[in-house]
Amino acid sequence: MCGIVAYIGEEQAFPIVLKGLKRLEYRGYDSAGIAVLNENGLHNYKRKGKVSELEKFSERKDTSGTIGIGHTRWATHGLPNDINAHPHVSSDGEMALIHNGIIENYDAIKEELIARGHTFQSETDTEVLVHLIDDIKKNENVKTSEAVRIALNSVVGAYAIVVLSKDNPNELIAARKSSPLVVGIGKHGDFYLASDATPIIEYTNEVVYLEDEEIAVVGRDSGLRIFSIQNKEKTPYIQELELQLEAIEKGGYEHFMLKEIHEQPRSIRDCFRGRLNVEKGWVGLGGIKDYEKQLANAKRIIMVACGTSWHAGLVGEYLFEELTRIPVEVEYASEFRYRNPIISEEDIVIAISQSGETADTLAALNLAKDKGATILGICNVVGSSISRVTDAGSYTHAGPEIGVASTKAFTAQVTVLTLMALTIARNKGTLKESDFRRIITELDLIPEKVSRILDKNEKLEEISKVYKDASNALYLGRGISFPVALEGALKLKEISYIHAEGYPAAEMKHGPIALIDEEMPVFVIATKGTSYEKVVSNIQEVKARKGKIIAVITEGDEQVKGMADHYIEIPETDDHLVPLLATIPLQLISYHVAVMRGANVDQPRNLAKSVTVE
Ligand code: F6R
Repeated sequence: MCGIVAYIGEEQAFPIVLKGLKRLEYRGYDSAGIAVLNENGLHNYKRKGKVSELEKFSERKDTSGTIGIGHTRWATHGLPNDINAHPHVSSDGEMALIHNGIIENYDAIKEELIARGHTFQSETDTEVLVHLIDDIKKNENVKTSEAVRIALNSVVGAYAIVVLSKDNPNELIAARKSSPLVVGIGKHGDFYLASDATPIIEYTNEVVYLEDEEIAVVGRDSGLRIFSIQNKEKTPYIQELELQLEAIEKGGYEHFMLKEIHEQPRSIRDCFRGRLNVEKGWVGLGGIKDYEKQLANAKRIIMVACGTSWHAGLVGEYLFEELTRIPVEVEYASEFRYRNPIISEEDIVIAISQSGETADTLAALNLAKDKGATILGICNVVGSSISRVTDAGSYTHAGPEIGVASTKAFTAQVTVLTLMALTIARNKGTLKESDFRRIITELDLIPEKVSRILDKNEKLEEISKVYKDASNALYLGRGISFPVALEGALKLKEISYIHAEGYPAAEMKHGPIALIDEEMPVFVIATKGTSYEKVVSNIQEVKARKGKIIAVITEGDEQVKGMADHYIEIPETDDHLVPLLATIPLQLISYHVAVMRGANVDQPRNLAKSVTVE
């Protein structure tokens, strides 16, 4: 949700910042801007639309200079247009600022500033901040870094900011609260600042993740210095990045989403590397080792998440309740945090988040922490805010997910939840040894089975052709496949803009069945297992109303094959592991439908990858 990049060093800043913005574009893509400073002054280029529009716009303009800041926006306050795009500048045009987050009390600050003679160009909360800093700097006669510090003390909300000031061409000032910011320490006294490490990795692997309410001052001569907003100097904690450049490039695929779908055999395998040993009959998650006993004795577990991660939580609920017999509640983080939830010190709250930055999930966790609960995390992004705030947790190790629609992160979350449930069940004795062995043996085979489904890509593309012009679609599943139906529907709607709903198959007759006619594609997860016969009856109900059935079935299931308009066979597996397989064909169908409709698969309209506003 908004990406920020900045550079100071010996090199030309503009191309570095521009390239960084392209890497961060998944965080927001409704407008972009870059400001650079050179001997002719401060130049600020901004454009509605994607970073490529900004690139075209700034061709043949004066973009020279070795210090610069850039931003790619996901609009919160004010329409996406040239004026609302960042960077925003002070009245005299001598200070520029980029911001990711929301300044909640911007209205009050703005009124005060207007009374003091400031005029504003944009509708954004960010512009208020640059005026405030400039006002403090001039009226209190302090350095930019001190003005930033004073200003941030009066700001309510979330921010990651970088400030560039004409009177100090040798320094950038950055700060964060509830929005991520990484400082990259270059090899030649140069510095990179960014919302995440992806724009930085090709230059350096030494980074410092800023903590909340910290200000970083990076200077050509002074190096990196970190202060709290209470003005206490801190020692930077330098970490080594493990990210590889290939991981954030398309690697020959047309879209990141397609690449990420195809990475799943590897990402699932990576997820259980060192955590599963079939021969020894062992599973374990190092990150939660110290909490295993507490988990086994838990009276209740609450999972909080949003979107696709919430769907993973629903799969987790089935797994945990079935395997460990611990009651689980799965909550939308955005609802949980605002309804005075009943939480006690005995509770364990698990946050599930790909980015580890989702504002609602983070706030829900903090609330649970304040009420004394133990808080654990399942995150993909190493070093993210959620992973840092939790007592313990397990990374999903899916690698960077750039496509806005989550795919490999979902299957990795489900894999971690499976490992967690199995670990607890083992410790608690709620699972027979023979069942435990059978499930882990099957789990180990999942990557190879996912590959076999991916081999059906052509057939899935053919099916997609038939339904690409649909206006609506239904997704049905039962038991552990119900969240798969929800996820299938979300994937289709978010990237192809076809209205789609997921339902528990038996709920159809309580209302949604009224929607069914010969135009309605109905995707049904009808694999062999506990609810198979019931789902077959639900398919009959849809067929009787002339709905079109696209069934995900177990290999060799002749019964549903004979009933469905289209079928996709997936390899047989243990019931508990069906989501890891059944999700794959639904991802690919959504992908193909979206491509055929000419939609921007990796950057669907109105969305952003990391939702750092509530
Ligand atoms: C959908 C999708 C979103 C995210 C949601 C939570 O494809 O990606 O629904 O799942 O915004 O994001 P994280 O997992 O980063 O907390």
